[in-house]
Amino acid sequence: MTLVCKKPVDVVHNIMKVIEDLNHLKDVDTILDRILYEARQMTSADAGSIFLVEDQTLKFSYVHNDTLFQKGSVNKQVYASFGVPINEKSIVGYSALKGQTLVLDDAYELDADLPYSFNRSFDKESGYRTRSILTIPLVTLKGDIVGVMQLINAKNDDGEVQPFCEQDVQHAPLFASHASVAIERGIMTRELILRMMKMAEMRDPSETGAHVMRVGSYTAEIYHHMMQKSGMEEMELKRQKDIIRLAAMLHDVGKVGIADAILKKPGKLDEEEFATMMWHTVYGAALFANSTSELDDLCRDIALHHHQKWNGKGYPGDIGDDYKDIKELNTKPVSGEDISLPARICALADVYDALCSKRSYKDAWPEEKVDAILKEDAGTHFDPAVVEAFFEIKDTILAIREKWSSH
Ligand code: C2E
Ligand code: SIN
Ligand code: SIN
Ligand code: FE
Ligand code: FE
Repeated sequence: MTLVCKKPVDVVHNIMKVIEDLNHLKDVDTILDRILYEARQMTSADAGSIFLVEDQTLKFSYVHNDTLFQKGSVNKQVYASFGVPINEKSIVGYSALKGQTLVLDDAYELDADLPYSFNRSFDKESGYRTRSILTIPLVTLKGDIVGVMQLINAKNDDGEVQPFCEQDVQHAPLFASHASVAIERGIMTRELILRMMKMAEMRDPSETGAHVMRVGSYTAEIYHHMMQKSGMEEMELKRQKDIIRLAAMLHDVGKVGIADAILKKPGKLDEEEFATMMWHTVYGAALFANSTSELDDLCRDIALHHHQKWNGKGYPGDIGDDYKDIKELNTKPVSGEDISLPARICALADVYDALCSKRSYKDAWPEEKVDAILKEDAGTHFDPAVVEAFFEIKDTILAIREKWSSH
């Protein structure tokens, strides 16, 4: 059955405008969020998800669900981690394999002769009822497949679920091809950052990548939660969250300037070694001294201040005249709200992650012990409001930790 669309015909114009906007986003999560949002607007879909191709499988990468998830809130489901093989057995696998858009009117009543079946495990767990599905391969203009987007439960004006209409199906590939280019660019930016951090730390490269992803995500989600509570407008919040995730990923990039003998020392640093180590904040900030963008500004700020404490202790504080040639660097000791909020959040995210992880100089600590330290240090090391926000979204924090547990 194909329904007649009542949607306005300037949908192509609309698509072009969205594509233009996508080009201003930098991190792949923000890009996926925006793509899903716009695709769902265009098709009136209640829910949707995106899978990205990684190591020859489709990795679950993003999800929306207006029925199940509270709108605009921090959502742990986004960090669920599972993969689907690229083969004929699943809907998304088939779509990726054949490069075909699939239109299904009811997921529970598929023709028996189709090679794929619908996986009901999500519905069973959540109580959701998936009905109509539009599955779109994300293929770039060059023909590379980057993933699959699934739009679920198209709704009519009365909010009733109906099949996706012909117009949705027609416009999907145009949207998908441009979206795919934006996704590829987002992935490249992330890989670039991970490579920079690999150079900076030269530790076990996989663990470094995971640390970077976790600190970036913790910082982004705590920020999201705090700003939502204080009523920041949603689009502005997402724009800020986008650059904050990237800047937090780069918090320790200045370790590139620290010698291996100190960086990889298996034991405790002595006073002099630690004094050298403190310079990683300044080295990092210096990389972004000639600011050309808001992202640069934030990278410099977080690199410089992520070890600055709420009570004014910490470093770099006043590092003297050694770097006075870099005028943009403000190295006065700062405390409280004079430290920017993203830097205050990153400070907590970094320590939480360092304490939960094994380092060359320490074992991983149990969760309860780490939580106790964060609570104890609220008001001295950490901004109490940041600590509070952290515990309010603890389920999302744990989902992030699980997603990047080692790889
Ligand atoms: P990192 O390993 O990423 O640790 C980040 C922050 O987490 C530390 O900042 C500190 O605030 C906290 N942290 C990490 N481990 C512990 C711990 O065992 N106990 C407590 N109470 N806090 C901990 P900090 O101290 O400014 O260190 C910055 C960086 O310097 C560390 O980054 C690490 O790369 C290096 N570092 C610090 N101490 C040592 C050490 O004893 N040995 C070696 N090899 N490196 C160290
Ligand atoms: C970009 O503007 O997309 C690049 C961001 C970066 O590599 O820091
Ligand atoms: C899944 O959620 O496991 C994939 C759904 C599908 O079969 O398309
Ligand atoms: Fe650091
Ligand atoms: Fe760190």
